Amino acid sequence: MRILFLAAEAAPLAKVGGLGDVAGALPAALAALGHDVRVALPFYGLIDRARFKPQPAARLTVPHVGGDQTARVSVVRHGGILFYLIAGPPIPRARRVYGVSLAEDGPKFIFYALAALGLCRALGWAPDVLHANDAHTGPAVYWLATDGARDPFFRAIASVFTIHNLLYMSPGAGPYLRAYGLAPSDAPLLPDWARDSLMGLGLAHADVVNTVSPTYARETLTPEGGLGFEGLLWARQAAGEYSGILNGLDLAAWDPARDRALKARYDAARLEGRVINKRALQRALGLPAAPRAPLVGMVARLDGQKGLDIAVPAVRALLAARPEAQAVFLGTGAAALEAQLRELARDFPRQARAALRFDAELARQIYGGAELVLVPSRFEPCGLSQMIALRYGAVPVVRRTGGLADTVIDASQPRQGNGFVFADYNSSALLRALQRALALYQAPSRWQALQRRGLRQAPRFGWEHSARAYLALYQQAITQRKEAVDRLAGTITDLPGPG
Ligand code: GLC
Repeated sequence: MRILFLAAEAAPLAKVGGLGDVAGALPAALAALGHDVRVALPFYGLIDRARFKPQPAARLTVPHVGGDQTARVSVVRHGGILFYLIAGPPIPRARRVYGVSLAEDGPKFIFYALAALGLCRALGWAPDVLHANDAHTGPAVYWLATDGARDPFFRAIASVFTIHNLLYMSPGAGPYLRAYGLAPSDAPLLPDWARDSLMGLGLAHADVVNTVSPTYARETLTPEGGLGFEGLLWARQAAGEYSGILNGLDLAAWDPARDRALKARYDAARLEGRVINKRALQRALGLPAAPRAPLVGMVARLDGQKGLDIAVPAVRALLAARPEAQAVFLGTGAAALEAQLRELARDFPRQARAALRFDAELARQIYGGAELVLVPSRFEPCGLSQMIALRYGAVPVVRRTGGLADTVIDASQPRQGNGFVFADYNSSALLRALQRALALYQAPSRWQALQRRGLRQAPRFGWEHSARAYLALYQQAITQRKEAVDRLAGTITDLPGPG
């Protein structure tokens, strides 16, 4: 199968968050199953030219009301995958992926999405499926369903649109869409305010839509989770066109038996390495090297989604009640949250640390040495931290939402449990889960059984499983598209012939 994969970020070329991990790993997993997958992304200034050595691949024009714009496309081959990098007037050379305004990101992503389709024609490579991810790629889905349907080169290309985070929906892009010849959508189930939302275009016009976990798919059918799209998603779900596929975890990149960032490598049969890692972590953080002190870690982008507003008070209460307990937070983000973490570390100088930076090595050392990893998200379409924690034998403490609910089973479930789960979004519910965790930690053999279960279950999260689910989804989209094309051909041949 030929698959064109569109995403605003793709590791290792350009990565900000979880979307970048998925766009790096899923195409590779599909290619490993024998498919021709090509990824296109904007040519941001932050892509390392010296490392990836992009080569010129094509030049094409994108129609624009102010005069046609030229897209210059370069190509990088990395890990057996072709990455097309699209440059042109609306794509700033700034060293960032996302801009600060729709005035920057509207034209940037619309141009990119249209140029990616134009590239297929320029290369004479028609994919069977366009797999578009998140709002930035909605315009490609929309163009394919409208102008593309009238064009023999594009007519048969099926589209799959994946939601990674419904919150970033880019509404109000009408002026930028019009500048590229696209009118706001008239899809019946789109709320009026979303007719020019880039997310809305993808949701309404793709042959099939999915999101990154079964539970998040269900949550987005409610007003609270659907953010106004619940009616449309409900209808698409009823038609069998909306589902959830859990993301995978890159098992080679995340492997405690081979992780060079760890002082001691280990697996489920030899957990002792974790004791050495914990001591090294405590030393690196300047915390007392107490082997039995429960150490709680959290690795997250510091924003409203991730639950810092309940994590900080819960950890504060825990550290006050348990003077032997320790905590470390790693991440960057909102200034107010960074300030709260700094304050926590100041108030508990012998117990808490705030590492307010991007530090891939420290992240690995936290997974490889901490007893508990917190993921108390307000909502979480899939989430990666809890899967890494399980893979590393750190016990996750998660809120029962989205992908967290689909991957972590509470320790109260005999023979199944791999972590601690709480339901209500408040700090006392999180604190109670932490207290249950620390109570079990007092029973070393039961605790180790919990850790081992996570370590042994984690291989199930391998990408191959998700890739096969996507292939089935692509097949469904292809069948639907073919039926639509046949219907259209039927109406055309039904027209009275000339004379
Ligand atoms: C977004 C979501 C996260 C998900 C990731 C990859 O970042 O917030 O839950 O894991 O996309 O799909």
